[in-house]
Amino acid sequence: MSKSYRVAILGATGAVGTELLELLEHRNFPIADLKLLASERSAGRTLRFKGENLTVEPVSDRAFENVDLVLASAGGSTSKTWAAIATQKGAVVIDNSSAFRMNPEVPLVVPEVNPLAAANHQGIIANPNCTTILMTLAVWPLHKVRPVQRIVVSTYQSASGAGAKAMAEVKTQTSAILQGHSPVAEVLPYPLAFNLFPHNSPLNDLGYCEEEMKMVNETRKIFGTQQIRITATCVRVPVLRAHSEAINLEFESPFSSDEAREILNHSPGVKLVENWETNHFPMPIEATGKDEVLVGRIRQDISHPCGLELWLCGDQIRKGAALNAVQIAELLVEKNLLKVSKAYVSS
Ligand code: A2P
Repeated sequence: MSKSYRVAILGATGAVGTELLELLEHRNFPIADLKLLASERSAGRTLRFKGENLTVEPVSDRAFENVDLVLASAGGSTSKTWAAIATQKGAVVIDNSSAFRMNPEVPLVVPEVNPLAAANHQGIIANPNCTTILMTLAVWPLHKVRPVQRIVVSTYQSASGAGAKAMAEVKTQTSAILQGHSPVAEVLPYPLAFNLFPHNSPLNDLGYCEEEMKMVNETRKIFGTQQIRITATCVRVPVLRAHSEAINLEFESPFSSDEAREILNHSPGVKLVENWETNHFPMPIEATGKDEVLVGRIRQDISHPCGLELWLCGDQIRKGAALNAVQIAELLVEKNLLKVSKAYVSS
């Protein structure tokens, strides 16, 4: 007996939405019916799925009727508006925005780290922030062996984190500069081509931006502990779609780089990339399009006896967003956590 589900993608035309579409097809998610939802601007556009052209519909109350699962990636305010309506109509929502992540009633899930949290959902499951997902994959397997006490992370975040329009803007700016023109910034606050700048999310009174505080608060929620001290510096760089992170970890006792390497070599969702002879370590161009987070350059911190340094790159759109959401959906199917009564059942 197999079940298949009626699925809607909210934000189907966006950078993450189009990746969701591709992943649902390639991972053969059991779909009985698929709705593509976006704003009025995209009404009537078509997108390919399993050899067919599907028409994008503007989101509305009625769009969530007879839907079992919503994969939402259309920004926080859109999620706030539509998630309640979708759940009232009986769907489970996996939301990629930050709207519900810190709500104590909403599980925040990275399937390789805290899959059991998904079982407590009450209609909405939050997909964590992209930089947080990538960091937890590398840190959790080490934390399980020896608790991490402090994390100092610096990020190098690609344009994809600001959506499809920001990616297009970087390309336009790059060619403008190469042709001797001034770059125009409309989506991001400053030109990103041939430049970088601290993440432009709102700053708090302590001078931390929202993106940095997401890494602090979401990591603690996913790890299930408020005890880890975390500080982050998030920077946008002119890379198209994979984020990089330099992570310094402080453990309660020394952690040798060989032991960390051995653990990470067998950790789900992680691929070690380390060639010390050729100086070949994770790079965004090699992480792009990959499911795994590439980790390398693992070394002992010479400034602290219990410190460890590592470097990672991960595809922000894929594991940092769409793949994690699809893996949560697969987890719900596997554990029978989607409402069976609404699923199509065939023998
Ligand atoms: P649209 O293409 O119609 O604007 P990205 O993160 O790449 O910028 O994509 C954002 C996604 O969210 C797009 O699919 C976009 O649709 C969708 N979206 C943005 N605002 C709304 C809204 N108010 N209602 C529905 N979908 C929205």
